[in-house]
Parts: sequence; structure tokens; C-alpha cells
Amino acid sequence: MKTNVKPRPTIFMIFGGTGDLAARKLIPALFNLFLEKYMPKEFAIIGLGRTSYSDESFIKTLLEGVNKYSRSGKADKDKWKEFSSHISYLTSDVNDEKDYKKMSDFIEKCENEWSEPPVIIHYLAVDPKFFPIIASNLAKVKLADNTDRTRIVVEKPFGHDLASAKELNILLKSIFDETQIYRIDHYLGKETVQNMLAFRFANALFEPIWNRNYIEHVQISVTEDIGVEDRGGYYDGSGALRDMVQNHILQVLCLVAMEPPVNFDAEEIRNRKVDVLRAMRPFANEEIRFNTVRGQYGDGWVQGEKVEGYREETGVDPESNTETFAALKFFIDNWRWQNVPFYVRTGKRMHQKSSIISIQFKDVPHLIFPSQSSESWQQNRLIISIQPEMSIRLQVQAKRPGLDMTLNPVDMVFNYDGTYENDTPEAYETLLLDAMKGDQTLFMRGDQVETAWDLLMPVLENWESRKSISFPNYSSDSWGPETAEALIAKDGFHWFTLPIKKGEKK
Ligand code: BG6
Repeated sequence: MKTNVKPRPTIFMIFGGTGDLAARKLIPALFNLFLEKYMPKEFAIIGLGRTSYSDESFIKTLLEGVNKYSRSGKADKDKWKEFSSHISYLTSDVNDEKDYKKMSDFIEKCENEWSEPPVIIHYLAVDPKFFPIIASNLAKVKLADNTDRTRIVVEKPFGHDLASAKELNILLKSIFDETQIYRIDHYLGKETVQNMLAFRFANALFEPIWNRNYIEHVQISVTEDIGVEDRGGYYDGSGALRDMVQNHILQVLCLVAMEPPVNFDAEEIRNRKVDVLRAMRPFANEEIRFNTVRGQYGDGWVQGEKVEGYREETGVDPESNTETFAALKFFIDNWRWQNVPFYVRTGKRMHQKSSIISIQFKDVPHLIFPSQSSESWQQNRLIISIQPEMSIRLQVQAKRPGLDMTLNPVDMVFNYDGTYENDTPEAYETLLLDAMKGDQTLFMRGDQVETAWDLLMPVLENWESRKSISFPNYSSDSWGPETAEALIAKDGFHWFTLPIKKGEKK
């Protein structure tokens, strides 16, 4: 990781500049980087889109986005004026080669006027169906071939299945070098996810017990309280497995399970992560029934309001077979993790928004305490809460104060709130800064994406070929289908959740 490298002069070409992602995430992130003095002195942001806008009206819509979505709140007038003087808009059609010429003229102008040749980041915040045409047109006008200075950032979804991901990789690699391709997974930019590396490899304490001799099972649970909102059209062709498991959850799992890297180089870390995916046990068709669970939300009540079921959402097929919940039990076939189950689950419209990694350690070999001392016995557990609470908790047994010998589980807690004063950067701030610096550590490599698809293909194909007769099988505001409880309960465990704090929005 290039921790202390200052970014060089940079031009951001944002394809889909008038879209939701630019307004909600990209521009607020770049503005925060500017406020915190991470942006280089010379930079330009070019919004690209078909709708015609003047620079002024484009900048005005971006300001609305910043005021609404930025973690630092409403923009300071002077700071925004200074920042937005770097922004312009180019009306363009991704299919029209002539419009790419306008982009290259702009870049040439910056190259002539700036103190050093800029890094050029083509950011594809558009529907994936446009990825191939944009990449090909960039190549035609020679906006792709400088391997040192030109980069392409590709948003998810990266492919719809293994075949399409391979096809996209082949196309991108025919134009760009792998070192120029930044496949984004915003989970990797989250502070607590990055902290997995620090926690595991900057402390001597955990590595000796981080294996099958001490760990009984691992859970990764990413639950959301929202439904599909206005993304029904996209989501109905995707589903929870593609939308969350293939990327975010498997990336997090890799950080939990990877071998210690030799150093902090991007390639080294990405090699160790892909090793995990390669070691994951493929699903045999007959096991899918026992080791996976799918669900779809029905209607229900959320905070006193009636909400519709998935099949009633706009853009969704009223007989949809798409899963909005997925739970799977994985195994990793290597020395470290042999026979340690990794349970993962994700779902929409669940009772709580929460992303948690829970590592349960094996029980003590012999219990010396009488049974009445240990009625609330709990094996040691390490809980890494990614969001909304950002914390690491180690659950241990302690003696409750009093004249009796009574044990109960207590938490040793490291909470970001209260430990650090600084506001935590948004994932996109970290990732955009890394893209500017040329650091690919937190981006997915082509082989990682393909290996993750390869692992899930049998499940995807199985679920698609068998229409679920039980859908909808969980109500909104619940913990998902009962069969997901059974998946883990049959091994003697239960899904771990953090209690919702008083006053905290669910
Ligand atoms: C996106 C998915 O990648 O991640 C969404 O497409 C999901 O469906 C979102 O809601 C969750 O991200 P976060 O950061 O809110 O956990």
C-alpha cells in the first residue's frame, strides 16, 4: 500500500456524471478529500453524460448532492467555490467516437498547461452494458494506452455470471493492462474492513489461535433493513447472491481467512486473498439443498408503517423467483481451516442494518466450575462490527461480583466512537484516493472476480432452475426465513446479532 504517496495531478472523467452514484458518493468523496487536503493542486473533474448541462447547472446539481449526502454536512460556500472551479461538464454519447475526441482535447490542454503530465482516471459509473463500448472507444482515441498514467475504474456488478465476467475481463485486458484496471468493491474501502489487516497482522496475540485448533466457526452476517427501493428493475435480474455474496461478503471472508502476507504490497495481499477463494470447497449439486438457504421478503410492518412485499415493488416481476436473502455454509480446504464452517448470510428488509463478523472459539477443554455457576456460559467470541457500530469486541467469561461464584460473559470493547476523535472517511474517499495514487490493494483483481463467480455458479444455476414454491418466505422486519436458523442450528450454533442501542435507528 502506498500509504504516504501524494497523488499526482489527476483528471477524473466520470462516465455517468449526472447519475446517482456521482451525486451521492463520488463528488462528496472528492470534496471531502479536497477539504482534507488530499487532492493534488492540479486536478480536474469532468462529468460526462447525454443530457445537456452547462458547467454551472451541472455544478449546482452536484452541490445539492454534497449538501444532502456528504459526511461533513453542508458545503462551506468558499470551499465549494474553490473546489467546483475544477469541475466541468461535457455532453457526450458513449457510442459516439467524436465525443471521445473532445475528451482527449481537454486532456491535451491540461497536459500542456499543468506542471506535470496528469494521471487520467476513467470512472465507469454507468450501466454495465456500456462498459465494452466505452473501453473500446477509449482505445480508439488512444485514451487507454499509457499504462503508467491512465486507469479505468469499473463499478460493480462485474459480470452477471462466470461467462460474462470472463468476457468482460478479456475485453478490458485487450485494451488495458491489469495494473490499469480498478474493479471497485466499496466494502474493501470501509474502515473496519481494512482494520482486519491491522488487527490480524499488527498484533502477535491472534495469529497463533487463528486456525482450526482454536476456532469453532465463523459467521459473516450483512443484514439490511431497507428493501430494494427504486432499484427493483436491476435487483430482480440480480438477487442477493450476485448483489452481495459474490463480491462484498467473499472479499470480507478472504480477509478473515487469508494467510499472513509477506509484506503490504498490493499483489502480495491480493495473492493471499485469491488463495482463499481457490481453497473454498466447491458446492456439489446434492449439497446445495443442505448448505444453502434462499429467501424473499413478503410484506410487513416497519416502524409502524406497512411495507410491501418484494413482488409488489416497482420493477419487480409479480411472480419473481429472485432471492432477497441468502445464507450459505462454506468450507475452506486448507490446513488452517479444515472443517471449520464459515456461515454467511445477507438479506434485505431484515430487522436490523448490521454487518458483523463473528468468530467463535472452541470451548474450554474441561469445566472446573459447578453447573449452577455457569448458567449463562458462552464460549469466547470475537466480534468485529463493520457497521453501523464500528467496534471489535472480545467476549470472555468473568466472575460476576458477589458472594457466589457465578460466571457470565462480558465484552472487552474497542469502539471507534470514543477512541478516535476524527470522523471516519467514507469507503469511496479511501478508494478514490488509492486510485489516484495507483494503489490496487483494495481493488479486485480479474482472477479474484472469476474465482468468486466460479464458486457460486452451481448455487446460482441450481436456484435459477428450481422455482421456489415457498416465496415469499420471510416477512419484512424479521430475521429472514426460518430455514436460515435451521442451517446453523443443526450444527449447534445460532446467528449472532448485536443488540440495538437505545435511540439508534434500526
Ligand atoms: C451494494 C448493493 O453494493 O451494497 C446494495 O448493490 C446494498 O444492494 C449495498 O444495499 C450495501 O452497502 P452498505 O455500504 O450500505 O452496506
